[in-house]
Amino acid sequence: MKSPHLKISLLAAALALAGMTASGFAAQEIATETWNPGGGEQDEALHLTPDLANGIDVYEVCSACHLPEGWGLPDGTFPQLAGQHRGVLIKQLADIRALNRDNPTMYPFALPESIGDAQAIADVVAYIEKLPMNPEPGRGPWEPGTPDFEKGKQLYADNCVKCHSETGMGDVEKFYPRLNGQHYNYMLRQFEWIRDGRRRNSNPEMVKQITNFSDDDMKHVINYTSWIPVPKEQLAPSKDWQNPDFK
Ligand code: HEC
Ligand code: HEC
Repeated sequence: MKSPHLKISLLAAALALAGMTASGFAAQEIATETWNPGGGEQDEALHLTPDLANGIDVYEVCSACHLPEGWGLPDGTFPQLAGQHRGVLIKQLADIRALNRDNPTMYPFALPESIGDAQAIADVVAYIEKLPMNPEPGRGPWEPGTPDFEKGKQLYADNCVKCHSETGMGDVEKFYPRLNGQHYNYMLRQFEWIRDGRRRNSNPEMVKQITNFSDDDMKHVINYTSWIPVPKEQLAPSKDWQNPDFK
C-alpha cells in the first residue's frame, strides 16, 4: 500500500498540473477566439512545401493591384507585400478568405475558385516574401530631426516596440507584421481601423495599447513608423527596378 505521504505529494502534483492546464487553456482561448484562430487553411499553408513556379503564376492575379514588384502604391491604396513575413502573409490571406478581415476589393480575387487551395497560398507567399522591397515607400510629412518626428518616435518607443520591435521588423514567430517599408497612408488606415474595432482580425493587446490614441498621436506614431529604414540587403537596387518575372 502507498504511504499517505506519497498520496499527498501525488495530490499536490495533480493539483499543480490541473492549475497549469486551466491557465494554459484560458490563455489559448483568448488567442483562438479573438485573434489568431490558427488551424484550417492557415496551418495547412504554413506546413506545405511551396512550388515557386506556381507561385509566380498565382501572383499574376495579385500583380494587378499590388504591382508586379509587390510594392503596392505609395498613396497607400494597396499595401506593399514584398518582404513581409511568410506567416503574416499567410494569416492575412486566410483571414481575408474566411471573411475574418474585410477586404471587398480583393476578396473575389483571393478565393479558392480564383487562385486555388492552401497550396496556392503557400506558393504565392513563398514568391512574395523574397521580392526585393521598394526603396521609396510612401512616407509621412515630418522628416527625421523635426519635433513632430521626435514626438512619433517617443510614442513608438513607449507603445509599439515590444511587439513590432525597434527596427520595425515585427516578430516572425508570433505573426506580428513588419512595418518598416510599409506605406504611410496604408498604415494610417489600418491603425485607425484597429483602434476603432473595424479590423476584426486585429490583436486585442494592440487594441488595448492604442485605445487612448488621439488622431494626432496616431499621425505622429505612423509618421515615425513610415521612416524606419528597411535593411539595405532587402531593398531593390532602385525605385525604377522592374520585376523580370513579369516583363
Ligand atoms: C483588386 C485589387 C487586389 C487584388 C487583385 C489583390 N489584392 Fe491584396 N489587397 C488589396 C487591398 C486594397 C488591400 C488592403 C485592404 C485594406 O486596406 O484593408 C490588400 C491587402 C492584402 C494583404 C494584407 C497585407 C497586410 O500587410 O496585412 C495581403 C497579404 C494581400 N493583399 C495579398 C494579396 C494576394 C496574395 C493577392 C493575389 C492572390 C492579392 N492580394 C490580390 C487589393 C488587391
Ligand atoms: C501586443 C502587440 C502589439 C502592440 C503593442 C502593437 N501592435 Fe501593431 N499589430 C500587432 C499584430 C499582432 C498585428 C497584426 C494583427 C492581424 O493579424 O491582423 C498588428 C498590426 C499592425 C498594423 C497593420 C499592419 C499591416 O500590415 O496591415 C499596424 C500599422 C500596426 N500594427 C502599428 C502599430 C503601432 C504604430 C503600434 C504602437 C502604437 C502597435 N502597432 C502596437 C501587434 C501589436
